[in-house]
Amino acid sequence: PNPATSVKLVLLGEAAVGKSSLVLRFVSNDFQENKEPTIGAAFLTQKCTIGERTIKYEIWDTAGQERFALLAPMYYRNAQAALVVYDITKPASFIKARHWVKELHEQASKDITIALVGNKFDLVEDDEEDSLRKVSVEEGQNLAEEEGLLFFETSAKTSYNVNEVFIGIGSKIPDS
Ligand code: GTP
Ligand code: MG
Repeated sequence: PNPATSVKLVLLGEAAVGKSSLVLRFVSNDFQENKEPTIGAAFLTQKCTIGERTIKYEIWDTAGQERFALLAPMYYRNAQAALVVYDITKPASFIKARHWVKELHEQASKDITIALVGNKFDLVEDDEEDSLRKVSVEEGQNLAEEEGLLFFETSAKTSYNVNEVFIGIGSKIPDS
């Protein structure tokens, strides 16, 4: 069998957007309705098979709370991939995501693969009037296009599109 390619991946984004929940869904196929905020950062690993390749993700799940902001560079500095996560019901979290993308382009590795992830898709109703959506799909797509990012809307709660994020990132990572 092919040896696994290790990929260092960091999650960044405002507090409570669902970073840890996306990781919990990807690693354990589980969801917690009242997940506790991350303190500092958490490290987890998960393998992912894409066609003939196996990728071993080494995941740094950072804390979004402002008091941990200065720690983030330690985690993204050596990362080959990043998920910049926002909550599609929280416009401020989308503004924060823009800032993260800018910072990554300025400070992270030049060849980092970045995915922009709009989470909590389950809170969006088909009926526009009842929908909690505050950030449109187009806003997300436009930012991703301008900055050369992959783009997904996800739900850690229903698992919608969560594996697709990691498969999408993995497909972009060259063999090492
Ligand atoms: P920090 O660690 O503080 O940066 O937060 P975080 O981004 O890791 O968020 P976390 O995963 O802890 O989720 C925050 C809250 O949102 C929790 O109560 C989750 O249950 C909830 N949540 C996460 N993802 C989703 C989702 O896709 N849909 C819904 N409805 N709730 C979600
Ligand atoms: Mg967390």
